[in-house]
Amino acid sequence: MRVIKYIGSKRILVPRIVALAQAAAAHGRPGRRRSITACDLFCGTTRVAQGLKRAGFHVTANDTAWYAEMLATAYVATDSRKVRRRALEAKIARLNALPGRRGYATRTFCEEARYFQPANGRRIDAIRAELENVADGPAERAILLTALLEAADRVDSTTGLQMACLKAWAPRSFTRLELRLPDLIAGRGAAVRMDANALARAMEPVDVAYADPPYNQHSYHSNYHAWETIVRNDSPEAYGVARKRADCRTTRSAYNSRKLAWDALSALVHDVPARHLIVSFNDEGFFTRAAITRLLADAKGEVATMPVAHRRYVGARIGIYNPRGEKVGRVSHVTNHEFLFIAGPGALQIADQVSASSGAARG
Ligand SMILES: C[S@@+](CC[C@H](N)C(=O)[O-])C[C@H]1O[C@@H](n2cnc3c(N)ncnc32)[C@H](O)[C@@H]1O
Repeated sequence: MRVIKYIGSKRILVPRIVALAQAAAAHGRPGRRRSITACDLFCGTTRVAQGLKRAGFHVTANDTAWYAEMLATAYVATDSRKVRRRALEAKIARLNALPGRRGYATRTFCEEARYFQPANGRRIDAIRAELENVADGPAERAILLTALLEAADRVDSTTGLQMACLKAWAPRSFTRLELRLPDLIAGRGAAVRMDANALARAMEPVDVAYADPPYNQHSYHSNYHAWETIVRNDSPEAYGVARKRADCRTTRSAYNSRKLAWDALSALVHDVPARHLIVSFNDEGFFTRAAITRLLADAKGEVATMPVAHRRYVGARIGIYNPRGEKVGRVSHVTNHEFLFIAGPGALQIADQVSASSGAARG
């Protein structure tokens, strides 16, 4: 799976989340249903949405970022079987052969800041301009833009955040930027760019919803402003050493505000029309684990918690809670900071089943 560097990305956790979603969708419903549905409310790189789509879910992938919408349109909404692969490869070859051209990206991201080598900045400018002429329809446009984001990510000179530049150029930044056809996935899905709370109020019911909201004050819009600008192609006024888009000053997510985040999350959990809800959570953010557990128990009844390690598939269901959110189980592995919650009918049994099949120890 080819995907951009993204803070908080759930790359390592995808198999676990997908296993939980599958077990949840199957729970209490013997026999196959015609179709199973899922919504990734804060999809970011779309890694989780892609995993769910590969597992047979009809997935709606949502995020407020324009770049996330492009990734979702390419990977989730587009059926790889309907793509004219030969034609796309020819277009990619044509874009790769363009001579560089100094434009907004070169000036802003390579001269005023140092996210890319100027030669690659000129290639980004040339490809971005021509892409609109060669793309035949929204799906092709999203696929080519995804190819451009991934190509830029492979040759950037950042630590993964578009905030400060490295003192010396990263070795990968000397490589020539080259587009490659993204690994598209068979099947149908949907890409949405909405506030997750607004979507939760408006969407059709789904079997499973997955929520991975920002958990502290750091704004994704600011951290990934260059991806946003490359996709929007709107040459915004830029400020500061990081040359961020002017709208980084005003674009705020409620989830980045200590004051607003709890009400936003509470409303989301109560509004989302999903039989089961899976939530990613980090205990170094605004909320405590106990508070989230109570919230989920209140909205969905049964809740199970699985601690998950950052780099290894180590995990166990450590907290056992009754429907009132009171802890009735033993706690271990207290050093874990990342957790997955599953809430809804049979949550404890679902978490047990997934823990057992992933070989994880139980708490
Ligand atoms: C922790 S990241 C999600 C990472 C994702 N699960 C992945 O594996 O790539 C949180 C995401 O929430 C998005 N976001 C922030 N506020 C939002 C809101 N109110 N509605 C929808 N998306 C939002 C951000 O743009 C960011 O992509």
